[in-house]
Amino acid sequence: MDYKTILVTTNEKGFATVQLNRPQVLNALNREVMDELVRALESLDQDDSIKCMIITGNKKAFAAGADIKEMADATAVDMLVRDQLSKWDRIRKIKKPLIAAVSGFALGGGCELTMLCDIIIASETATFGQPEINIGVMPGAGGTQRLTRAVGKYRAMEMVLTGNFIKAEEAHQAGLVNKIVPVEMLLHEAEEMAALIASKPPVALKMAKESILKAFDTTIETGLEFERKNFYLLFSTEDQQEGMHAFVEKRKPKWKGK
Ligand code: HXC
Repeated sequence: MDYKTILVTTNEKGFATVQLNRPQVLNALNREVMDELVRALESLDQDDSIKCMIITGNKKAFAAGADIKEMADATAVDMLVRDQLSKWDRIRKIKKPLIAAVSGFALGGGCELTMLCDIIIASETATFGQPEINIGVMPGAGGTQRLTRAVGKYRAMEMVLTGNFIKAEEAHQAGLVNKIVPVEMLLHEAEEMAALIASKPPVALKMAKESILKAFDTTIETGLEFERKNFYLLFSTEDQQEGMHAFVEKRKPKWKGK
């Protein structure tokens, strides 16, 4: 597919990389970027040769937020009619694992986009923040909900109410980031993780992701039921047979993805 604001690459290891590519505005997420990002992710989600996707930016910015210039003169009705945020729901519905590889600014919608991903790998220069308060609004794409669940009430309050940024180290300590690596190692590290995940049985990957996400919007009782049903359901896959017999026969499994 032909994209103007993102670069999409795939490889034989079974993962794809989607790079946000509006460097002149620190990858500000305008409507076109979000359209293209959602289309790319949905298409990769349907592609059997791809098991996992990386979303990344450049050295200076993962993304500095929604495009302020595009929103500055919008009315509430414009925002409602544009309904940009429904695109974020579509990213939430992506079934394959998403890895955010973050260097530089991940602010506002940029920070929210990292939190829509399932694993966040940061470079030492990564900076996270929800500075919407400084421009008269507040987070709108999950910042108050996912950030609070990730870092707890008090840190989330401080970040959202002051608009202050946190550096990679603090984000890591707070549980927002899986690991921190030197800038030049960022993509390599994300690719290693993506290749490892892509080497696992795809149906089990999807069900495991779905089950973990369930923990965010249900009671423990319902979540455990959901997990158990997915666990039992995996016994109808050929990959369960293959995985368990390969273990018993002391050989490497060959996944079929069914
Ligand atoms: C549009 C942006 C932008 C943004 C940066 N730019 N962020 N344009 N929307 N979110 C543009 C600048 O206008 C400038 O363009 C160029 O990128 C470089 O930015 P500078 O400000 O010159 O860079 P620097 O001095 O290094 O400062 C970096 C920065 C600052 C601290 C990240 O750019 C900044 O504060 N950006 C806004 C961050 C923010 O408030 N994000 C939240 C947005 S609201 P020119 O043409 O001047 O060179 C949001 C709501 C999400 O995300 C809700 C759901 C979608």
